[in-house]
Amino acid sequence: MTREDNAVSTDTITYDRDADGVVTLTLDDPTQPVNTMRAQFVDDLESIVTQLRGEEDLTGVLVTSAKSTFFAGGDLRELIQAGPDDVEAVAANSARIKDALRGLETLGKPVVAVLNGTALGGGLEIALACHRRIAVENPKAVFGTPEVTLGLLPGAGGVVRTVRMLGIVPALLGVLLQGQQMKLAKALEVGIVDEAHGDLDAAMAAARAFIADNPESHQPWDVKGYKIPGGGPSHPAFAANSPAIPANLKKQSKGAHYDAPHHIMCAAVEGAGVPVDRAFEIETRYFVDLVCNSPQAKNMTQAFFFDLQAINKGESRPDGYDTWQATKVAVLGAGMMGAGIAYQCAKSGIEVVLKDISVENAQRGKSYSEKLVAKGIERGKVTEEKGQALLDRITPTASYDDLAGCDLVIEAVFESTELKHQVFGDTEPVVADDALLGSNTSTLPITELAKGVERPEDFIGLHFFSPVDKMPLVEIIRGGQTSDAALAKAIDLVQQIKKTPIVVNDSRGFFTSRVIGTFLNEAVAMLAEGVHPVSIERAGEKAGYPAAPLQLMDELTLTLPRKIAAEFEAAAERDGIPFERHPAQDVLDRMVEEFEREGKSAGAGFYDYDEAGKRTKLWPGLLEHVRREEVTIPQEDMVERMLFAEALETVKCFDEGVLITPQDANIGSIFGIGFPAWTGGVVQYIDQYEGGTTGFVARCKELADRYGDRFVPPASLAAKAEAGEPFRS
Ligand code: NAI
Repeated sequence: MTREDNAVSTDTITYDRDADGVVTLTLDDPTQPVNTMRAQFVDDLESIVTQLRGEEDLTGVLVTSAKSTFFAGGDLRELIQAGPDDVEAVAANSARIKDALRGLETLGKPVVAVLNGTALGGGLEIALACHRRIAVENPKAVFGTPEVTLGLLPGAGGVVRTVRMLGIVPALLGVLLQGQQMKLAKALEVGIVDEAHGDLDAAMAAARAFIADNPESHQPWDVKGYKIPGGGPSHPAFAANSPAIPANLKKQSKGAHYDAPHHIMCAAVEGAGVPVDRAFEIETRYFVDLVCNSPQAKNMTQAFFFDLQAINKGESRPDGYDTWQATKVAVLGAGMMGAGIAYQCAKSGIEVVLKDISVENAQRGKSYSEKLVAKGIERGKVTEEKGQALLDRITPTASYDDLAGCDLVIEAVFESTELKHQVFGDTEPVVADDALLGSNTSTLPITELAKGVERPEDFIGLHFFSPVDKMPLVEIIRGGQTSDAALAKAIDLVQQIKKTPIVVNDSRGFFTSRVIGTFLNEAVAMLAEGVHPVSIERAGEKAGYPAAPLQLMDELTLTLPRKIAAEFEAAAERDGIPFERHPAQDVLDRMVEEFEREGKSAGAGFYDYDEAGKRTKLWPGLLEHVRREEVTIPQEDMVERMLFAEALETVKCFDEGVLITPQDANIGSIFGIGFPAWTGGVVQYIDQYEGGTTGFVARCKELADRYGDRFVPPASLAAKAEAGEPFRS
């Protein structure tokens, strides 16, 4: 029997030794479309490394994958289950993976990772334990350690090895703390991939050449005299740079506490000052603490992995309809939103006819795309050719005749039912007979708007967020008569233009506008009670909102919430429902009517603005006219009043059938309206509150006693609390 025949492949790793003594390990989990670090893989990795260490006349090792990606990462289904009782088990598992990878990198023989595709998280960590990383040029492939975005840290040596390869500051700021998923060019620039080749054969040949040229191979940190690039924590060079790290963290989180970046920073800095094996232990300790003890890790993994995945897989898409692709869109209204929607559609290859009341207006809308393209070219993100092709796809016009042949309409004219009825009346006869008819209204009920068209079954809300090119969400609103076919088309469209769709049923303000309104109103209600405006802004930041509430209110204008409240009041009166005036209203009325301060666009709001429209300071009049010295509220109450207001409105959206799935609520709240990411979204926030729904409802009652009946928990939530059930069930 030859030596090759003795080699044993495992379930998830194929082991092939060739006549030159080179062993190729092919990662190929038969049970999943991608490779992950599930329990079986860990067993297999251990036995493979043991085998390699016993291999006679070993020349080198190639590590590659039989999947279209290299390796996806840790097994999140296992990690999300772990709790405080699992500390020892999680630590032992992490140590086993680390020991196996350490065994690989200390073989004394060259080990090369051939990255045929994406290597993220645990996948990149396997590659980092190799002596060289050679990638195939694959435009779909991304590389990095996205753990931080899931509230975790790379616990298979990723912190220790990036720090030792790149230096503490570059590893933290360039790889670990942002968790970017880098395209190949960026990964090469940062240094987590060493070289790239056009195809797999060329990459394999380069890997073999590396093995031939480096018969003895070690990691730099295992060579005597090694020093961390840029110095360890006690080095003066590091001392000079180190303040940048917490400063960066603070900037990212705006004062809210995020466990994962904190733990990553500690693991990196503490690990850099000790021998590598000790550094691995430190990394494990911080990793285990996140996995077992951090609610944020659970929340963020649930939202950003599981909920997002369900949405991307089209869970809300009705079955039985072929995938649809829009080819030509009529964008009605070339203002702020229409201009952004035109750009996003053209970028995704759709022909755009951008219609406004004059060609000049329409051209002004197109110039928004011209600016974005020019910026993209300047930054090397797009070629001149592609940029020009994008612009050529946008035709500005003032004539309805030019809309002929459009299979999609997205309307973004002023927020007026009458005007919207009128433009649809003029558009519908010109576009294709089966064109999907979408409106970007942010508040007007879709069922009402659909009364202005001949085909209400094809009418749907496509609610974009500003700025369209940056905001990842589109809220799809199903009107009373919208058909399943139209809903399927709308979901396909949103994915075609590379946005994330959530699906809700019709109501005034839908889900997002309605819920964000309660957050802003709550902040203003505190102002009305006499709380210092700076305390309110700090509480918003502390909660983890991306923008302080009064600042945001100024951006959105103080007139908008007044208009919305007036519409709600009129609708309530029409329907014979009692309308309760929100305590925020008085302050808003005074701001607009008495002080003539309508917000940022008017040059005066809660803040003062300079000539160029830049925010300068809080308006001193707030202290004079609204602030009451004797009023102080605990910060915790202020933080929770804002978060609870949004959570309770979300519960009402479920009660009324506006929201259908918890994943839409979670992702919609984070991606659309800035609900803090650490919560995992607005439903997750309720369920993860201390004491679950029971604790949440108890706290609602406290807040209701102190601050008003709007905090009284809806009956549906109280019933879940009573039964000790999570809201999401
Ligand atoms: P805008 O005022 O910037 O633009 C509206 C455009 O519609 C103007 O260029 C106007 O000339 C044009 N227009 C008016 N009548 C027209 C007609 N008969 N035919 C063609 N064009 C006509 O307004 P914005 O902010 O872009 O909002 C548009 C819509 O999007 C509104 O329904 C708004 O509620 C909604 N929306 C706004 C968001 C925002 O952040 N501004 C967010 C999401 C939705």
